[in-house]
Amino acid sequence: MMKIRKFLSKDSGQALEISRASFAEPWPQNEFEKYAEGSFVAEDKDKIAGFVIGKISGDQGTLKLVAVNPAYRGKGVGKKLMDRIFKYFTKNGAREIIARSRLHNEAGCSFLKSFGFEIVKTIKNYYLNGEDAYLMVKKLDD
Ligand SMILES: CC(C)(COP(=O)(O)OP(=O)(O)OC[C@H]1O[C@@H](n2cnc3c(N)ncnc32)[C@H](O)[C@@H]1OP(=O)(O)O)[C@@H](O)C(=O)NCCC(=O)NCCS
Repeated sequence: MMKIRKFLSKDSGQALEISRASFAEPWPQNEFEKYAEGSFVAEDKDKIAGFVIGKISGDQGTLKLVAVNPAYRGKGVGKKLMDRIFKYFTKNGAREIIARSRLHNEAGCSFLKSFGFEIVKTIKNYYLNGEDAYLMVKKLDD
């Protein structure tokens, strides 16, 4: 049974493994702990199936990272994590959420669009390897 719960510091090792399988430029392990407040994991028994990390400043939420273990993809785990973080953002006063995705990350862009995120601009050279990012925004309902 998949359970969504808050991110705990003991989760950062498994989150790093999922990041390595998911991102060209994974975060260092200690970076996860900075965002524990707005972070959630999907847990299947003792295994972390995925995680989402967000942060709020003022009335804007930022989706920092979301990733699902490749073995668990396509089963709605990402959606469960997003539903949880949307609640966190709404409860803490966010009116909109921003996210960035690599231009070539078709699954990532489709995933974000499926929640109503819209591309507002392209940020040139956003990633360390020179790749561009889409800046995407989702307005939250009142
Ligand atoms: C993007 C990611 C988090 C999706 O996780 P997931 O658990 O497989 O997603 P879900 O099963 O909850 O899918 C939710 C919706 O996203 C979209 N989606 C998910 N994976 C997709 C894919 N490979 N291609 C196209 N659309 C996709 C679909 O609209 C899907 O809804 P549907 O199943 O009703 O069609 C996962 O593929 C991942 O970790 N990718 C690597 C990291 C990454 O790119 N993160 C996002 C950067 S913004």
